[in-house]
This record gives sequence, structure tokens and C-alpha cells, in this order.
Amino acid sequence: MKIMFYDTKPYDKESFERVLPSYPEVEMHFIKPDLDKRTAALAEGFDAVCAFVSSDIGTETLQVLSKCKVRLVLLRCAGFNNVDLDTARELHIEVRRVPGYSPEAVAEHAMALALACNRRLYKAYNKVRENDFSLNGLMGFNFHGKTAGIIGTGKIGAAMCHICRGFGMKILAYDVYPNDSLKDFVTYVSLEELLHDSDLISLHCPLMDSTHHMINIESIKQMKDGVILVNTSRGALIKTDDLIEGIRLHKFAGVGLDVYEEEAGNVFEDRSDEILKTSVTARLLSFPNVMITSHQGFFTFEALSAIAETTLQNAMDCTKGVSGPNLVG
Ligand code: NAI
Repeated sequence: MKIMFYDTKPYDKESFERVLPSYPEVEMHFIKPDLDKRTAALAEGFDAVCAFVSSDIGTETLQVLSKCKVRLVLLRCAGFNNVDLDTARELHIEVRRVPGYSPEAVAEHAMALALACNRRLYKAYNKVRENDFSLNGLMGFNFHGKTAGIIGTGKIGAAMCHICRGFGMKILAYDVYPNDSLKDFVTYVSLEELLHDSDLISLHCPLMDSTHHMINIESIKQMKDGVILVNTSRGALIKTDDLIEGIRLHKFAGVGLDVYEEEAGNVFEDRSDEILKTSVTARLLSFPNVMITSHQGFFTFEALSAIAETTLQNAMDCTKGVSGPNLVG
């Protein structure tokens, strides 16, 4: 099978090249441009394309891919809201994804953001580098004995619950489908109750119509003063303008964001100047108690290896006509 690999970053190439020798049937060609309606034609002569959460796999892209006789889209990510699944089905293009690669990687990053915000690590780091060893402005609070509110308790949310448990926190959760495996130490409550009672709120539900802007000025006003809010899920779960209003109202001890409303994938890497000049994310960066990372929650050695392995297994499953849980739609 010949696969055109779009939006190649050095770390993608490295992780796939580590796994490729186990898949001699696969020939992979790595290119830098991301997949969209203009670049889709580059897949002429290939059986499949490998794309990411940032790729634009809408109607026109799929039409071009179909003309090029591409029959498989391999998403090297969990999310597929960037794919027009109806058109893919009509054109008989299969879409396969990597639903879970390392939930612990994302959950650990969520806790890293929470701790960095709470203990002002970015400020402490800069102060000490400037030879200022004073503690002014660095006071945090113990997580031990406090309440964590986990919204969405699927794979990543569950991993976050285990981490919070290790910190000695009381854990409240909100999910439309409670996770039975957590029942010994997690209490499911209404969203309102979670917002009202939590000292740390971490978002782990997918972006859907029902969750779009679920954190807005009304929900922010229900939160405790001095709460820490962390989002490693999808940017549009939070209405950014309302978040800024909440920060101005001194609602938050800290806000840790790995995802932002304006991103399509980790766009900052390629277009940082252009985006930062105009974006509301840039406004967020101006607040001293906001810490932003560039969609790196998944970015561990283990997760990248698992993504490469599953993507290539998905390619093999397609050639063998195996359906399986990774087939989308
Ligand atoms: P999952 O599908 O295992 O869990 C999602 C959970 O959210 C499920 O338990 C589901 O019932 C729940 N949910 C659905 N609608 C809800 C609602 N309206 N309110 C509350 N809960 C609701 O997904 P997983 O693997 O845990 O991933 C969670 C999210 O993390 C993904 O949707 C993705 O946006 C994000 N993610 C971020 C990464 C990063 O690098 N920052 C990497 C991978 C995923």
C-alpha cells in the first residue's frame, strides 16, 4: 500500500520510521504540506493519505482524493470533526483513526498545567533566572484535601481522576455516561454542582454541539473564586471572550490551556506570528495567571509510538477488509 503522509513534522517521521520495518507491505512518502483541497492532488498514484487533526478533509478535498483514486484516509489522531464523513461514504473512501493512544500522556499534561498555574512555576522560573529569589507572588494552595471536578470521564478523564486521587483530592465528575470503573472513588454530580464545588476543574469531554462553549460567563460565574481551570480537550469548549471576562473578574487562581478556540491542530508552530498578532489567544497570553501550551498533551514518546503502530495496523486492516472500532462512520 502506498501512503502519502501530509503535514510531516520531524517527530512524525521518526516515530513512523521506527515502526515501518514491521510493515513491509507499506510504502510511505512524507511531505510537508498539510492536506486540503489544493494539496489533495499530490496524492495521485497513492492508495491512502495519512492526515492529522489540522487537515481540511472537507467535501472538495475528498472529491480530489477520489479522482486520484485514493480509497483510505488514515487519521493519526482521535478527532475526526475535520472530515466530511457523508461525502467520504458517498465516494467510498474509508476513514480510520487512532481513538486512544496514551490517555495518561494527556492527563499528565493536564495535571502539569494545573500544578504550573497553582505554584506559579513559569513566574518562579523567570524570577530565579533574573537572580530574584523572593517568594512574592508565588503562593499557591495544596491540592491535597481539595476538590477536583472532572468533566468527561472517558479514557483521558479517567486517567486524570486517578492522578487527582494520588494527590489526595476529593473527586467530583460530570459525564452524560458515568464510568463504572471509577465508582469507588469518584462522585458523579450535576454540572452545576461540579462547577460550584471544585477547586480544580479539568475538561475532558469531546467538542460537540452539546459541549460547544459549555464554559461561558454563566458557568464561570457558578465557579468558586480562586478556581484553577484546565482545558486539554478542545478549545471551543470554552468561550474565550467570556473566559477573558472571568479572568478580569478575578475568578481564577490560574488557567491552563493546551487548546484554544482559534487553532486547527497545532497551527501555532507554523503560523505563530500571523496568528498572535490578531488572536484572542494573544489577549489571553497577556494575563499573568494564564499558561498556554501548544496542543502538546499527546506529545510523549509512548503516545507517538502508539499512534504510528495503530495507524499502520489500520492500513493493514483496510487491505484485509477488517472493520473494527477504528473505522469511522
Ligand atoms: P473519550 O471518548 O474516551 O471520553 C470522552 C468522554 O466525554 C466520554 O465519557 C463521554 O461520555 C463524555 N461526554 C460526552 N458528551 C459529554 C457532555 N456533554 N458532557 C460531559 N461529558 C461528555 O475521549 P478521550 O480519549 O478521553 O478524549 C477526550 C478529549 O480529549 C477528546 O475529545 C479530545 O478533544 C481531547 N484530546 C486532546 C489531546 C491533546 O493533545 N491535548 C489528545 C487527545 C485527545
